[in-house]
Amino acid sequence: MRITVLYDNNVVREKLHPAHGFSVLVENKKFSLLFDTGWSGPILLENARTLGKDLKQVRFIFLSHQHWDHIGGLPDVLKEIQREVIFIVPRSFTKGFKRELSHYGEVMEADSSVFEFAPGFFSTGEMDSDIGIKEQALFIKGKKDVLIVGCSHPDVYRMINLVGKVDILMGGFHGFERIELLGDVVGERIFPCHCTVKKDEILDMYTEKSQKCGAGLEVEI
Ligand SMILES: [Fe+2]
Ligand SMILES: [Fe+2]
Repeated sequence: MRITVLYDNNVVREKLHPAHGFSVLVENKKFSLLFDTGWSGPILLENARTLGKDLKQVRFIFLSHQHWDHIGGLPDVLKEIQREVIFIVPRSFTKGFKRELSHYGEVMEADSSVFEFAPGFFSTGEMDSDIGIKEQALFIKGKKDVLIVGCSHPDVYRMINLVGKVDILMGGFHGFERIELLGDVVGERIFPCHCTVKKDEILDMYTEKSQKCGAGLEVEI
């Protein structure tokens, strides 16, 4: 399995565009999954092209929460894919948005419990947050247990605890302050991406375990 950051506030490879937002491509032998779509479709598609990623292979689109920097690229992505996909979205997304998605494929709605939508691929279920927006995270159980988060508005520590300890944590941790808690619940690698406020502090505290995130980051599992 390969996990590639397509869109992030930073880049870790040349010729890619940094932009506020987040998107990750997960490829395994059977299918590809797109986690969030960044804010700008053209930037997402161009970064994907530069990285040699064909989004036409995407079978699942997993949307963490209804913020523009995570779903804005969706219309361009759907135009690129040109065939039906399976969406995994929080149940709390607006009815109009879910109806629109249903024109492009099946819509699976995450309620408040963990569920498996493909072998080894789980939604944590949607969780409440203090900004009134619900959010789900992607949990992949395989050789390594991986948790990919969008902005972690519900608190990244709470989100990890829904699935127990993980080997790899990647995504936006937003304003999460208690970074000393991460060491016990993340076994191998922490990638603080996108909106994480304490990026530098995490990289300093976990010199062995953490790694700079940005568009172009590839993790082979
Ligand atoms: Fe965000
Ligand atoms: Fe957000």
